Amino acid sequence: MSNKQSRFWTPSKSKWLLGIPVGGFVFALLGAVGLGVFHITMEASSTNEFCYSCHVGMDTIVEEYQASVHYNNRHGVKADCADCHISKEFLPKMETKIKALADIYYQLIGTINMENFEQERLRLAQHVWDEMQANDSRECRSCHEPTRWDLAAAPTRIRVAHQKTLSGEETCINCHAGIAHQLPQRHLSRKTP
Ligand code: HEC
Ligand code: HEC
Ligand code: HEC
Ligand code: HEC
Repeated sequence: MSNKQSRFWTPSKSKWLLGIPVGGFVFALLGAVGLGVFHITMEASSTNEFCYSCHVGMDTIVEEYQASVHYNNRHGVKADCADCHISKEFLPKMETKIKALADIYYQLIGTINMENFEQERLRLAQHVWDEMQANDSRECRSCHEPTRWDLAAAPTRIRVAHQKTLSGEETCINCHAGIAHQLPQRHLSRKTP
């Protein structure tokens, strides 16, 4: 080994150089704390309780959901608000979270309330439908996996309809709107099965 090389590895005597490893450590620590806070924030803002904090009293969404098969069913499998409304994939999840920041503002100025909800409802529902149409009902598919459907055992009505999903002709939300909430009364422009 040459002298030059071994000197490179000798710890420097000058104190300020110590700042490099210390600085590195502090950065790593901040990074870890930041990541932890980020993770906790992401988790906390995906719980039903978080959604309830605004949607209870603002509209009738939560009560309708709690009366639906996605809240209460014979198998006891739960589908939380976030399971249908927030993607499990990182980028679309971040997109939803960032867009949802606007809802804090809307909540503060009170765009939606018990009085005008039915008036506003079609606009909100249409937004969700458009999204699900565009992403081929991605969130539904995290629980319902069409390739595992036992179509042979299904009644003809379901078999025929679900064949159209497998062939890519139709996506879930085209036929299954209103599975967790009431449909908007002004549900005019929508095709139903
Ligand atoms: C800070 C209050 C607040 C919280 C918390 C909140 N929402 Fe909302 N949400 C709103 C408001 C206000 C609107 C109406 C926005 C508008 O008028 O466009 C809305 C609209 C929506 C819509 C319909 C329109 C759209 O943007 O797609 C969905 C779906 C929705 N919220 C789901 C959720 C879910 C799921 C959660 C929990 C993960 C949640 N919200 C938590 C205030 C909130
Ligand atoms: C977190 C898992 C989960 C997600 C996400 C989910 N579901 Fe379900 N779904 C269930 C469970 C559990 C049941 C009830 C099964 C049972 O016990 O009969 C169910 C039942 C249904 C039923 C039968 C309804 C009835 O009245 O019997 C339909 C239709 C359905 N889901 C469609 C959808 C659609 C469309 C989406 C997406 C918008 C979706 N599901 C998202 C878990 C989920
Ligand atoms: C072309 C229309 C159509 C499409 C697209 C469609 N379904 Fe269905 N689905 C039906 C019909 C019709 C039924 C029977 C409803 C009934 O009996 O009330 C049904 C029944 C179901 C049931 C209940 C099954 C049972 O045995 O009771 C579930 C769960 C379901 N669909 C989920 C989905 C999911 C998830 C998707 C997308 C991956 C999807 N469907 C796509 C029309 C469709
Ligand atoms: C099983 C999937 C599913 C679950 C669980 C679910 N939603 Fe939805 N949500 C939908 C679909 C699909 C729509 C589009 C309108 C429709 O078809 O009912 C929707 C529409 C909405 C809208 C727009 C207004 C409207 O009436 O259409 C809001 C707000 C909303 N959901 C909030 C929530 C909140 C908050 C929760 C939990 C308390 C929740 N959702 C649970 C599937 C779900």
